[in-house]
Amino acid sequence: MMSPPTILVTGASSGLGKAIAERLAAGGARVVGTSRHAATDGPIAASGLTMAQLDICDDVSVASLKNRLQEAGALPATIVLNAGFGISGAIEETPVDAARAQFDTNLLGAHRVVQAFLPSLRARGGGRLIVIGSLAGRIALPFQGFYSASKAALAAYAAALRIELRPFGIDVTLVEPGDHRTGFPDRRQPPADRHHSPYEPQQSRVLAAMIASEQAGASPESLADAVVHLTHTRGRHAGFAKASAFERLFLLLHRVLPAGPFQLLVRRAYGLD
Ligand SMILES: NC(=O)c1ccc[n+]([C@@H]2O[C@H](COP(=O)([O-])OP(=O)(O)OC[C@H]3O[C@@H](n4cnc5c(N)ncnc54)[C@H](OP(=O)(O)O)[C@@H]3O)[C@@H](O)[C@H]2O)c1
Repeated sequence: MMSPPTILVTGASSGLGKAIAERLAAGGARVVGTSRHAATDGPIAASGLTMAQLDICDDVSVASLKNRLQEAGALPATIVLNAGFGISGAIEETPVDAARAQFDTNLLGAHRVVQAFLPSLRARGGGRLIVIGSLAGRIALPFQGFYSASKAALAAYAAALRIELRPFGIDVTLVEPGDHRTGFPDRRQPPADRHHSPYEPQQSRVLAAMIASEQAGASPESLADAVVHLTHTRGRHAGFAKASAFERLFLLLHRVLPAGPFQLLVRRAYGLD
C-alpha cells in the first residue's frame, strides 16, 4: 500500500508544533516532526508520527534530514515551518549576538529548511508551505522588539516567497497566532541583567503582563485544528491570524488608526503611561 504524502512539521517536540503534528497524524497523515533532541536515524513510519532530529540553525543537520527523508521515500509535500523561540528585553540592551540568534532561528532557520526542500517540492509538481509567524510580527511588542522584528521579517519573506513559487504550484500560507498556552514563555530568553536596567520597572511590568496573557491564551489544539483544516483545503490561501476577540480588536485598530494613536493604546494596554 502506498504511504500518504509526508508532512514535515519543524519544532514538534512541544507546544504548537507538537499539537499540529499529533493532530495531523491522528487524521491519518504520514508526519515527520522534528526536534533538536530526536534520533538522527531509524525508519520513517509509513503512517503516523515519526520524530526526527533537526536543528534549523545548522546546515549539516538540515542536509542530513533531507537525505534521510529522501532515502526513506518520505520527502514532504507539505512543510509546517513552526520551530522558533523568543528573546525579551529592551532593544538598547539586547546584545547583537542575541539579536542575531533570534533572526538565525526564526527567519534564517525557516529559510534553511525551505531551501533544502524546494527542489523536491518543485519536482513533485507542487506542495504547500505553512509558515507560523506571530501577531507580534504585525503589532510590535515593547521589550520583545527583536522577536517582533524576526516575525515581521518572516511575514515579508513568506509573502515574497508566495509570489515567486506560484508558477510551480507551491502555495505559501502565513499563519499568525496570537497568544496560545505553551511552554514558549518559559523558554523565552530574558534580559541578562534586568535589575540594573534603566528600563525597570516598566520592562518587568510589561513582561509579566505578556506572560499572564500567554498563560490565559488559546489551546495549542485550537491552532492545530486550523492548520489541519488548511492541509485539507485544496485552494490557495495567503494566510490568516489565529486571534482572540480582544486580539482581533487590536488588529482592527492597528489597521485604521495612525501609528501614534495606536502606540498610545499599546502603552496603555501594558500600563506604561
Ligand atoms: N505560543 C504562542 O503564544 C505563540 C504565538 C505566536 C507565535 N508562536 C510561534 O509558534 C511557534 C511555536 O511556538 P510554541 O509556543 O509552540 O513554543 P515551544 O513550545 O517553545 O516550541 C518551540 C519548538 O521549536 C523548536 N525549536 C526551537 N529552536 C529550534 C532550532 N534551532 N531548531 C529546531 N527546532 C527548534 C523546539 O524544539 P526542540 O527544543 O525540541 O529542538 C520546540 O519544538 C514559534 O515559532 C513561535 O514563535 C507562538
